[in-house]
Amino acid sequence: MTAQEAMSKPLLQIENLKTYYPVRRGLFGRASGFVKAVDDVSLTLYEGETLGLVGESGCGKSSIGRSVVRLERPHAGRILFEGEDITSVSQRELRPVRLRLQMIFQDPYASLNPRMRIFDTLAEPMIAHQLIKRGDVQGEVDRLLQLVGLPRAAAYRYPHEFSGGQKQRIGIARALSLKPRLIVCDEPVSALDVSIQAQILGLLQDLQDELKLTCLFIAHGIGAVKQVSSRVAVMYLGQIVEIAPSELLFRKPRHPYTKLLLGAYHPPDPLFRGMERLIIQGDVPDPSDPPSGCRFHTRCPYAQERCRMEEPSLTKDPHAVACHYPLA
Ligand SMILES: Nc1ncnc2c1ncn2[C@@H]1O[C@H](COP(=O)(O)OP(=O)(O)OP(=O)(O)O)[C@@H](O)[C@H]1O
Ligand SMILES: [Mg+2]
Repeated sequence: MTAQEAMSKPLLQIENLKTYYPVRRGLFGRASGFVKAVDDVSLTLYEGETLGLVGESGCGKSSIGRSVVRLERPHAGRILFEGEDITSVSQRELRPVRLRLQMIFQDPYASLNPRMRIFDTLAEPMIAHQLIKRGDVQGEVDRLLQLVGLPRAAAYRYPHEFSGGQKQRIGIARALSLKPRLIVCDEPVSALDVSIQAQILGLLQDLQDELKLTCLFIAHGIGAVKQVSSRVAVMYLGQIVEIAPSELLFRKPRHPYTKLLLGAYHPPDPLFRGMERLIIQGDVPDPSDPPSGCRFHTRCPYAQERCRMEEPSLTKDPHAVACHYPLA
């Protein structure tokens, strides 16, 4: 199979996904509306690729990730994994799917059981899912620790005995232990020091190459996304506003919001030299009552009358944008 053919095989298809949370007000806590955290999002992940998902805090990135692994039940839309519709399957039916679909969380402290030695943390899911014979467990735990750059002796320690970066490595080893096809990484490095972030991102990149992992990589830091993603989707207030191959999106953003996000980011990278320093004005609107027309019009320096009235749809080309007046 050529790289091109491998690229064209979809592993995960998200179709018109809506994930809403009820807003409860008043004495009896009745739902008075919905936070439209994800509001009609369609995305496809191809085998072996890493798709970065960026946007400001609260725009719905985690809600997409959590819906994909079914920690949230979507309000509407479909999620197809390896061609199978997993949108509304029962928890029991989901069990075999979960093996192939793992999530790495932002907080390495909260995601490990403090009373379990690392050996058991890594061994237990493999044994529970009968992926391994008892006699092979030790060897597999050693292999996983080596894969994420930890010593074998780490297996006999407890989570509190590790640094944040080491805990995140353990979290990655645990996700890999079940040999998943897809990993959803939800801000896997944002709780860590910058130098440790670089190490973990480097590790993720090596693992992608070695294991041909498919990855949905969520972050609000553009830098992390740029390092690991082959394509990038930009999200604003529950919707995708731009999606393109990473190099193209960073070099030639077409949505004003993407340009502003990039303008707020100043890395020592020649790609960004000469780019104006820009600031995104105003607050993020209320996701339970999004603005009419284009949701970004209240903060967009280029907004015109049409933007207030008419909602732009995402174009279908490889560099897709949802804007009436995309940047040239
Ligand atoms: N369980 C919940 N109940 C009610 N509202 C929620 C819930 N989870 C998230 N939200 C709301 O949904 C919106 C999207 O949240 P989400 O966590 O998906 O954002 P995010 O893009 O991941 O943000 P961050 O970058 O801060 O992690 C926010 O307005 C948030 O307040
Ligand atoms: Mg989040």
